[in-house]
Amino acid sequence: MQHSNTSPIGIFDSGIGGLTVAKSVIKALPNEDIIYFGDTARVPYGIKSEETVRSYALQITDFLMRHKVKMILIACNTVSASAKEEIIEAAGDVPVLDVISAGTKAAIDGPKRRHVGVIGTLGTINSKAYVKSVHAIDPTIKVTQKACPLLVPLAEEGWIDNEVARLTLRQYLDVFRITDIESLILGCTHYPLFKQVIPKILNGEGRNIQIIDSADSIAASAKEKLEALDMLNAEGGGFECYVSDRPQRFQELAERFLGHPVKGVHIEQLP
Ligand code: DGL
Repeated sequence: MQHSNTSPIGIFDSGIGGLTVAKSVIKALPNEDIIYFGDTARVPYGIKSEETVRSYALQITDFLMRHKVKMILIACNTVSASAKEEIIEAAGDVPVLDVISAGTKAAIDGPKRRHVGVIGTLGTINSKAYVKSVHAIDPTIKVTQKACPLLVPLAEEGWIDNEVARLTLRQYLDVFRITDIESLILGCTHYPLFKQVIPKILNGEGRNIQIIDSADSIAASAKEKLEALDMLNAEGGGFECYVSDRPQRFQELAERFLGHPVKGVHIEQLP
């Protein structure tokens, strides 16, 4: 074992979107050091084949292991859907948490659920990873899914509550208006940015659908796991970012995502 309580937590995503997870982790675990990797040279993953996503994800896992992380958080839903098992194997004794398991747990917690909605990238929705994850816990729960590929570019553009965003969301979410879903999982790193707008569209007709932000769920699971392992850090709080391309653009977008200045974004080209 090469890690200790003061080792960093590794978080990775196909690009910028996983910063929604980093933000929730910083809030839940302010004394932890975090290393974030965003594969900005190869984003988006959501439209790529499972084999390609898997090989990128293993390269990033290797990078994080070289930094001796004590835990890996797969912030990307598309990676969670296609490479979770391989990452767990590559990480050895380092615990690996993923947004799909965390989001599923939150979506079906509490009052008995009968019907859950999921939105995500094409890759995540086609893999049916959320359906499998829900059914592994309770096969009687109905799951309705919808791929929303235009939401990632809208979020990157910062168009999260304008006319174009609202029209696009209305179109995508239409499928849920005629269903009786009790919760909707935001199954993509970028979608928590639409967290304020989605309820206005979905809950317009006296409904009260619970919106599940997997970022908050995985942060809570990470805290729980570190407490259980007695691996909490009492003296950290650092946040270091590595990207595979365009650190300047990452820095600008990261400041928008996190809502505060981000210093020192390093470039790291993977094979
Ligand atoms: N990070 C991806 C996800 O959560 C969204 C962006 C992409 O397609 O790479 O699925």
